[in-house]
Amino acid sequence: MEKYEGKAPLRSQLRYHGVLNAPHRAFLRSVGLTDSDIGKPLVAVSVAWSEAGPCNFHTLGLAQLVKEGARTGGVSPLAFPTIVVNDNIGMGSEGMRYSLVSREVIADSIEAQFNAHAFDGLVGVAGCDKTEPGTLMAMGRLNVPSIYLYAGSAEPGFYMGREVTIEDVHEMIGAYIGGKATEQDVYDVERTAHPTLGTCAGMFTANTMASIAEALGMALPGSASPTATSSRRAFFARESGMALARLVELGIKSRDVMTFESFENAIAVLMAMGGSTNAVLHLPAVAYESGVKLTLDDFERVGRRVPYIASLKPGGEYVMADLDRVGGVPLVMKKLLEAGLLDGEVLTVTGKTLKQSLEEYRLPNVAQKVVRDVNNPIKPRGGIVILKGSLAPEGAVIKVAATSVVKFTGKAKVYDGEDAAFKGIQAGEVKDGEVVVIRYEGPKGGPGMPEMLRVTSAIVGSGLEKVAMVTDGRFSGATRGPMVGHVSPEAMVGGPIALVRDGDQVLLDVENNRLDLMVQEEELKRRAKDWKAPEPRYRSGLLAKYSSLVAQASQGAVTSPRW
Ligand code: FES
Repeated sequence: MEKYEGKAPLRSQLRYHGVLNAPHRAFLRSVGLTDSDIGKPLVAVSVAWSEAGPCNFHTLGLAQLVKEGARTGGVSPLAFPTIVVNDNIGMGSEGMRYSLVSREVIADSIEAQFNAHAFDGLVGVAGCDKTEPGTLMAMGRLNVPSIYLYAGSAEPGFYMGREVTIEDVHEMIGAYIGGKATEQDVYDVERTAHPTLGTCAGMFTANTMASIAEALGMALPGSASPTATSSRRAFFARESGMALARLVELGIKSRDVMTFESFENAIAVLMAMGGSTNAVLHLPAVAYESGVKLTLDDFERVGRRVPYIASLKPGGEYVMADLDRVGGVPLVMKKLLEAGLLDGEVLTVTGKTLKQSLEEYRLPNVAQKVVRDVNNPIKPRGGIVILKGSLAPEGAVIKVAATSVVKFTGKAKVYDGEDAAFKGIQAGEVKDGEVVVIRYEGPKGGPGMPEMLRVTSAIVGSGLEKVAMVTDGRFSGATRGPMVGHVSPEAMVGGPIALVRDGDQVLLDVENNRLDLMVQEEELKRRAKDWKAPEPRYRSGLLAKYSSLVAQASQGAVTSPRW
């Protein structure tokens, strides 16, 4: 066998080298490894793969390209799978309760397979809302040389002369419910909205998390934006394999890259791009797994100094493929770095600092309208605002990039659960001027904080222009309008949202970061005395296990052991 000369000690040597490890080596030979292969560092390629949706349909092919790159770089790669729960297909159903839960399953399954087989490094291939943070969480937890590779977004569709995405299908259903569209309209947009493999095309959660992986320094510069169909995705797959070989040789681990400063950079990019509110859940979770404390206050602090500059759907006009044509995430990051809004000294998976990596990255020299200059922003502050107040003492989240409403006072229309709310909107129960409150959909109560895209699209699509929504559940990255999510503490643990009654006044004040229930404290105390937690929705199985372990949304809804 070859003798490994790299700087860092290898876990694989303890498992596969020496006479006593002959049984382990015998199995590596069975899968085709030679003496030469076994002598090299052994790296894993984790692949989120599933044919049940376009987001991770093609990832096995990408994994093969990563392996080619890894071999070129001088390490021996072996791939293993992890699961996928497709958010768009689960949306509005029982299936959606498994979405956030799957993030933990993905992180756990990567940890288990990686440690059980004593790998030395990891390339994680994933696309879709939970596979991406789940993969990054595993990388932070394992603290080994790691690179993230995005599966790539879909190309946009075209309908009635404009670019459309899956968001348009959801909103067309809202229009249909409101009597403003026909069944044929729904069918027509359904057939064109998502024309290729790949993740949802706008700056929804998958593209947000891919952009954030670049901003964190965990993905190669420029690798987030090429579509799933682009040949540049194949290029980045090979390059990621080669780059991992370098990281293993240099002994650069995930926690060398994912530091507090790099999380601040990730928040800055999230704010500048008007990314998904789900990032406010996922980044603290990735940070937690990386040994970094990140709170909602960090989001608010960074959000106040970083302007919103990228016109991307759902708040703006363009999709990820458009951003790719004009320079991708590095275009945004270069603008932020030049304005002093990023820390350029953090290390990245290139083995260089962020500043060096961005300096070396060549942008296409094209006129463009997708990303504005920092001194001419779309909005002077970041796209996400953290709210606190008597209705959300530990915090709540609103995406101001996707709404022009900055202040709203209205009467509460309360629903216990998403289904009841959707039926209520369909039945015309909700009127302009009201605040739809949807509760018992938090991390424990849902469980798993199902996304409310069906409800928010029904509100937007049915022409209810002066309606706000407040929930302890989540929103899809495709949601737009004055929608407040992640209300903490959630109803299931007796948070104030459990005490709201129909007709109570609710105040949403973005400028002052407030979300208040305008009810006297004495009255709330009386209501709290009468409140009892409802029976959990599940008594056995994965959702019950998750519900018993999960933290609040303000803490990233991570699961941690109870001793
Ligand atoms: Fe997979 Fe949207 S459902 S990215």
